[in-house]
Amino acid sequence: MTALHGAPDWYKDVIIYEIPVKSFFDKNHDGVGDFPGLIEKLDYIKDLGVTALWLLPFTDSPLRDDGYDIRDYTTIHPSYGSMDDVRRFIDKAHDLGLRVISELVLNHTSRTHPWFVSAASSRSSPYRDYYVWSDTPEKYRGTRIIFSDTEKSNWTWEPRTRQYYWHRFFHHQPDLNFENPKVQEELLKVVKFWFGLGVDGLRCDAVPYLFEREGTSCENLPETHTFMKRLRAEVDREFPDRMLLAEANQWPQDVLPYFGEGDEFHMAYHFPLMPRLFIAIAKSDNRPIIDILDQTPKIPSACQWAIFLRNHDELTLEMVNDQERDYLWSTYAQDPRMRLNIGIRRRLAPLMQNDRRKIDLMHSLLLTLPGTPILYYGDEIGMGDNVHLGDRNGVRTPMQWSSDKNGGFSRANPSDLYSPVIQNPIYGYQVVNVENQARFPTSPLNTLRQMIAVRQSARLFGRGELHFLHSKNRSILAYFREMGKDVALIINNLSDRAESVTLDLSRYRGYSIVEMFDKTPFPLIARARFHFTLSPYGFFWLSLIPPARTQRNHARAASSASHPERRLIDS
Ligand code: GLC
Repeated sequence: MTALHGAPDWYKDVIIYEIPVKSFFDKNHDGVGDFPGLIEKLDYIKDLGVTALWLLPFTDSPLRDDGYDIRDYTTIHPSYGSMDDVRRFIDKAHDLGLRVISELVLNHTSRTHPWFVSAASSRSSPYRDYYVWSDTPEKYRGTRIIFSDTEKSNWTWEPRTRQYYWHRFFHHQPDLNFENPKVQEELLKVVKFWFGLGVDGLRCDAVPYLFEREGTSCENLPETHTFMKRLRAEVDREFPDRMLLAEANQWPQDVLPYFGEGDEFHMAYHFPLMPRLFIAIAKSDNRPIIDILDQTPKIPSACQWAIFLRNHDELTLEMVNDQERDYLWSTYAQDPRMRLNIGIRRRLAPLMQNDRRKIDLMHSLLLTLPGTPILYYGDEIGMGDNVHLGDRNGVRTPMQWSSDKNGGFSRANPSDLYSPVIQNPIYGYQVVNVENQARFPTSPLNTLRQMIAVRQSARLFGRGELHFLHSKNRSILAYFREMGKDVALIINNLSDRAESVTLDLSRYRGYSIVEMFDKTPFPLIARARFHFTLSPYGFFWLSLIPPARTQRNHARAASSASHPERRLIDS
């Protein structure tokens, strides 16, 4: 096992790329992506510039919830490869400087997990108390149903032992009983197994739901925090440089306790920000973004938000009010097939009507707002989705590598693929694929690569403070990112028209401005008010250079005429 060294809070500096192993590359031609395939594509991932991989569940499972229905926590699903393949994958990723984040599904198992098989066979099974049972489905009535399209209750009747069992997700995924100390011990063993194998982080699935308590919503209970703090303490003791990421789809004030005092999770998703990025760009209005970030409390200094545009689930609309939800549904999911539960099952490019300017702008927001960005596989080439596939499968289709058979994903017969590839004339693999896009400097892939490279050149994006600049023009979202003496000014035009804006830059009077992509110098900030003009959906990433450094840079620029490899800006 090779380990990666670096700052213990490395998770503030990475860009995460989310991958379902089954969807990436099929090395053994059976129609399902696998670890050997993923290993082969690590160079692609490295070239993209991302620095961490988050793998969706890959252990043994009947795959009725794509692996979140765990049958075994530590055996690799045979379609994806062997434990040796996983070890080789982690080593190769680490050799390339890539961190590996995998899943920890704490809340539930599959109904086919041997614990549940035994528990459901007899009330006297030693595993009976691993799950939550009741004689009546009336218990915990204040609890909402998450998969509201498929489940009518959080209780399901188990005929053999004549009791109901509790589940927050699908009925085939019984919730574990965290009141039982043995369950806690089992899950701690799982954590140590994966960290022992060398993964750098665990994304802890469905964390708010671990405990149940009558008269509550059964979410975010204090017992959950007590358990997570214990888990964290054990991780810190044995694996001090690893990371825990909370999936808690909640309002910022309810997520805050998951950071504890820096003694619970290192990271948590910022769920409420995501739908507001989609509202802001649709309404050409900066307020949804400013409002939610203004309401976001400060988090402990070692902690970090994880931010994202799309992922493997529906674009969840739980963290918006009814009006906002209706707006998002009517804007982005007119076709009822695009809706699932309380969300929208579509990918980024179709949501943006395949408008390159909007896709790039969304990436500009993702890469410059505070937090660690997560990219979803395939969105870097603008892949489409397939609303004809059930559940969330339409956003989990095979990666499109080339215009070859099956999009270059697999040599199997098309009918043997785990999912059809996208075939329509706009998003089909014949048109949208890595090979085509690698050829053109301004393709979506190469544009995003460049944006990632610029983001990675300045640590302030992952670590700096955020200060909004206010102006009369609500279509413009402008902010400083500041870390010590390093400052970037980001200006985004959320509208489909050219816009001009006057910003008060008095805070940085005397600084010079350099555009971060091409290193083009802009005029010096001589006066407080500074005027910018932006193209439709255009954006600027500008580095502000203090006067002393400007002079040094001028001197360097003069000498770099003979040393072209020297860069003008050292942000
Ligand atoms: C998480 C996963 C989702 C899964 C659910 C139940 O929300 O992101 O894909 O279905 O947990 O395990």
